[in-house]
Parts: sequence; C-alpha cells; structure tokens
Amino acid sequence: MISLPPNTELMADAEATAHAAAEHLLAMAESAEGEPIAICLSGGSTPKRLYKLLASPGFVERVPWARIHWFFGDDRVVPWDDALSNVRMVREAFGHAAPVPATHLYFIPSDHGAEAGARAYEKTLRDFYGAGELDLERPLFDLVLLGLGSDGHTASLFPGKPALSERTAWVAPVPEAGLEPFVPRITLTFPALASSRSVLFLVNGASKREPLQRLADGEDLPARHVESAGRVTWYVDRDAAAA
Ligand code: 6PG
Repeated sequence: MISLPPNTELMADAEATAHAAAEHLLAMAESAEGEPIAICLSGGSTPKRLYKLLASPGFVERVPWARIHWFFGDDRVVPWDDALSNVRMVREAFGHAAPVPATHLYFIPSDHGAEAGARAYEKTLRDFYGAGELDLERPLFDLVLLGLGSDGHTASLFPGKPALSERTAWVAPVPEAGLEPFVPRITLTFPALASSRSVLFLVNGASKREPLQRLADGEDLPARHVESAGRVTWYVDRDAAAA
C-alpha cells in the first residue's frame, strides 16, 4: 500500500466511499440543527456516484433538500448543457428524483468567459454569505467536497498556475487548465475552500495512486494546501491506495 495523507479513511471501493460520503453529508446537515447549510460540490467524474446516491431511495428521503444550498467548487467555461460541464454532471446525477429548490443551486456562470464568470460567482458567494470578509468563526461552507487530479490539482487549482497564489478573491479565473479538458475554468480559491466546517476528498481508482504517493512524499501539490476551519478528511478506495 502507498503512504496516505493524514485523516485518510480507507474504503473497499468507490461505492463504499460514496456511501460514507453520503453519511458524512447527512451528519453535517444534522449538526446544523435545522439551519440552512451550504455544500460546495466537486466536479469531474468521481463524485457523480455520490450525487446519484443522494438522489436514490434510502438517501433521497433522508437528505434535508429544503435546507441545503448547493455551490460548485469549480467548473469548466462551457455551456451548462455541454458534456464537459459540471452543472450538467450534477443535473444528470440528481435527476428528477432530487427535490432541489431551483433557488438553492448556484451554478458558476459560463456564458461571458472566465474573468466575468469569476467576478459574478464571487458576488453570488458574497451575497449568500452576507459579508465582504470571511470570518473564521462563521465558515462560508458547511461541507466542501473535493477530488484529486492525476497532477495533484484540486478544484481547478492546477500546479504552477496563478490561481494558487490568490489569497483575497474567493473565486479566480483559470484561462489555461493544467490538465484535460483544456478549456478555461473558474475555481474557488484556497481562502474560500478553507472557509468550511469540513472538507472531504473523494479519491477512487488506480490513476490516483501517483498523486497520493507524491502528496505523501511531501511534494508541494495544490491539494496539499487545502485547509478547513474543521477537518480535512480523505475517503480513498483500495484501488487508489494499492502500491
Ligand atoms: C473538475 C474537478 C476536478 C476533479 C479532479 C478529479 O472540474 O474536473 O473539480 O478538480 O475533482 O480533476 O477528477 P475525476 O474525479 O474525474 O478523476
């Protein structure tokens, strides 16, 4: 087995990580004691299993849909119905079974380019939060879901790109992605991701062995810099953890 990040929970397979993540999300919702909660969704392919699970019998009746506000940690600057869009991925995964109030899904605007979209999403987040500065005592998100790219990126915070050093803005444009799909992106920045009660990385599959090992070897990869007001936890399946 490879070395794993701190706070890693090793799971049998992708289905087990999705179930554990669903229970973690429900626990976060429960701990909010009836208050509205904000969940920041990760994109890519890994989390689709989780989002489908939340909308499936056995979970769909347990999720407090009316209290949850769903945000996106990043997206590709493509039309929302494009196969590359994280909006499309989430819409397909939730399907018609998830009773998400339309006003509770905050998509990242993608029709006027990365710069304008980042500015618009920043305003959306600030309007929701109700203040211009993030207060450590009052995190923006209750839960941030993240994935790990094969190059060690997370959200659309790619190695060597300017967005890594953004410490004031909550949202940054990424004109050039560091990994396919090579389309412009819009991403939350480290300060925005850190304004969270909990961060949960979902990592499945053999293609993640290398970035996981590189993180464990101390390489300065973007995913290493994710912090939280609470705990950063990794749900890793055996395929990803195998040596
Ligand atoms: C995206 C994601 C990105 C993703 C990783 C892992 O928009 O692509 O936000 O950060 O989490 O690239 O992607 P997979 O889950 O597809 O391996």
